[in-house]
Amino acid sequence: MPRIAYVNGAYVPHSEAAVHVEDRGYQFADGVYEVCEVRHGFIVDLSRHLDRLDRSLKELRIGWPMSRAALIHVIREVLRRNRVRNGLFYLQVTRGVARRDHVFPTKDTPPSLVVTAKRTDAAAIAKKNAEGIAAITVPENRWDRVDIKSVGLLPNVLARQKAKELGAQEAIFVDVDGTVKEGAATNVWIVDGDGTLRTRPAEHGILRGITRTTLMDVAKPLGLKVEEKAFSVEEMFAAREVFITAATSICFPVVSVDGKTIGNGHPGSIAQNIREAFFDIAEKTLI
Ligand code: PDD
Repeated sequence: MPRIAYVNGAYVPHSEAAVHVEDRGYQFADGVYEVCEVRHGFIVDLSRHLDRLDRSLKELRIGWPMSRAALIHVIREVLRRNRVRNGLFYLQVTRGVARRDHVFPTKDTPPSLVVTAKRTDAAAIAKKNAEGIAAITVPENRWDRVDIKSVGLLPNVLARQKAKELGAQEAIFVDVDGTVKEGAATNVWIVDGDGTLRTRPAEHGILRGITRTTLMDVAKPLGLKVEEKAFSVEEMFAAREVFITAATSICFPVVSVDGKTIGNGHPGSIAQNIREAFFDIAEKTLI
């Protein structure tokens, strides 16, 4: 079955899907994106993802490419046409196609919209959950507006690549003051000595992950205390558990950072309990 992508008004074979060479996303990274999980035929946390898309677009003064209802229709259609019941969709909105010029194009330039979907490898995810992953730390070198889910991800790309070359799966950005920011494509959590979950406040300096937000809803019924408080790299090394969250991975246990073992070197029970409860608590939208 051929994969199908949605590009600016048309459903096209994925292998032929393309945007114009003067799309501002291509030339300036002048666009935003969302990645959303699909599980058992449901879109997970769609409302929160679209609310964040709205915020990202407003911050960059890019218009919606279509109404929210129409966008949901396109997302569902892409998922259906690709027969994705477990996987994810990716959507990208850019400031549109215009002759290359740094200033915004004229107001009548329509934003570009691309939506793709893919199945995820359940066995690979299960392996990471069972074994845990390794991470490295890297100095924060990104711009100040990482709260916007922009497609400008060069520092994240370089950090992930460095992790890969060192045999790790995630790179964790560390601020100049020695506190943990977030992963190249994930938020970072620790379980401290008291069993409290800690993650950096999202007011500034990190992306407010949707998985991060929903995890707080999941923690409550599990009787877990959550604190939004920055923690240092040393506190991370001394933590009972470290885990990372994102729509693509929900909650992967981290068992080593910079080659140092976290806890007993095995995935912790708190990350596992959260992962198991997550889908029940999250918002589910039928495809
Ligand atoms: N990344 N921080 C960064 C820098 C991210 O890129 C992401 C998500 C997150 C987690 O956000 P959420 O829980 O909403 O997925 C945090 C996506 C998955 C990606 O770039 O592929």
